[in-house]
Amino acid sequence: MKFFIDSADVKEIRVALEMGCVDGVTTNPSLLAKVGRPFEEVIREIATLVDGPISAECISTKAEDMVKEGIALAAWHPNVVIKIPMGVEGLKATRALANKGISTNVTLVFSPLQALLCAKAGASFVSPFVGRLDDIGQEGMEMVRQTVAIFDNYGFATEVLVASVRNPIHVLHAALAGAHVATIPLAVLKQLSEHPLTTLGIERFLADWEKVPKP
Ligand code: E4P
Repeated sequence: MKFFIDSADVKEIRVALEMGCVDGVTTNPSLLAKVGRPFEEVIREIATLVDGPISAECISTKAEDMVKEGIALAAWHPNVVIKIPMGVEGLKATRALANKGISTNVTLVFSPLQALLCAKAGASFVSPFVGRLDDIGQEGMEMVRQTVAIFDNYGFATEVLVASVRNPIHVLHAALAGAHVATIPLAVLKQLSEHPLTTLGIERFLADWEKVPKP
């Protein structure tokens, strides 16, 4: 299973990289707005740090414009993956970019049938948003389970990239469902490393070490 860091903050990405478990990065306009730096500058800097897919999102709404934008974004670095919003225009752009050999990540996916369409259109990744579905009282992870099952049934090459991850349980269930990737905020990545018994165990070992006679 691959872990991407869900952030446009280079400081956060560096911390996650130092933890040794980052295979790629996802960004979106909201994450970019938080860091307050120019889009291209951020993506190019991330590309110097991370050797893996880096999602950069299109803001166009028409397929033709998304394709032009996607081609321009892809020219920034070979690892750039074009994030395309789900919908008829997005699917058209996904197919056109796939035909040009450009990788895509279809975002804002909220149903297994949307995900199936993305796979048919040749998306490299599909991003089911689990947290946002949970927020409206629907079980986000069920969408992931069904999507993985459908992709397995037919051998689609599209990778299921679980997005809108809000807590460690999302990561656990994404892994159990067989999702290829989870994109994880730094705070959740840190939570994954923690356990109260680990903390207690370290404290006890250090306390006992003080009792060991020193030469
Ligand atoms: C990543 O690709 C998504 O844009 C991101 O995970 C969305 O997360 P949110 O629902 O917490 O904004």
